[in-house]
Amino acid sequence: MNKTGFIFDLDGVIVDTAKYHYLAWKNLADELGIEFTIEDNENFKGVSRRRCLEILLEMGGISVSKEQFEAWLVEKNEDYLQYILKMDENEILPDVKRILNYLKEQKIPMALGSASKNAIPILEKVSLLRYFDAIVDGNSVTKAKPDPEVFLIAAAKLGVDPLGCVVFEDAVAGIEAANSAKMLSIGIGDSEVLSESKFSFEDFTKIDIDFLNKLVLSLQERNNKG
Ligand code: G6P
Ligand code: MG
Repeated sequence: MNKTGFIFDLDGVIVDTAKYHYLAWKNLADELGIEFTIEDNENFKGVSRRRCLEILLEMGGISVSKEQFEAWLVEKNEDYLQYILKMDENEILPDVKRILNYLKEQKIPMALGSASKNAIPILEKVSLLRYFDAIVDGNSVTKAKPDPEVFLIAAAKLGVDPLGCVVFEDAVAGIEAANSAKMLSIGIGDSEVLSESKFSFEDFTKIDIDFLNKLVLSLQERNNKG
């Protein structure tokens, strides 16, 4: 069994796709006459596509048939995919590659743990798929974050005890999921919003190699004791 593993959320951690999710939800909201702001979009981070649509319809006080619901899900996703098609390596968030390269050099197994059903095409577009030893996405889970399922499956696929895993997350629900999986959570973004995380950084430019090395050592000790 590997001693340590690193798990990355996708949207908001590796790439800033939140802006494309926002544009696609906004298009649908406009069509339905629902007011939808960039602040509203915050509540959609880390939340499954299906649940996002439920929230949007609740905001507009709209109830619909199952068929209509499914049709709007498809419409939103097709719109979103138009933006994804244009993505390339320039959309990788600052210093993500520096950290991925370092962990790869150290032969530390890495997994993706995302709620998105579009995770693989996005990683392909930004040429990062090859870094990951396991991909756990919206197609492979039955319970959404804050349930720890996504991260527990990722740990099992990496062959790492959950106690030896580090999770990078930008969503409150994701931090909660990592904590309940007994993993070490690192928030990427606003430390006040991500106050439940063990550590937090504004972005990856603020994470140095010394920190990562110490983290790996402390996890190995934690794992040995566990
Ligand atoms: C991520 C994003 C959410 C998005 C979800 C599903 O968690 O932060 O905003 O709703 O993935 O994404 P999908 O690509 O499957 O619509
Ligand atoms: Mg995210």
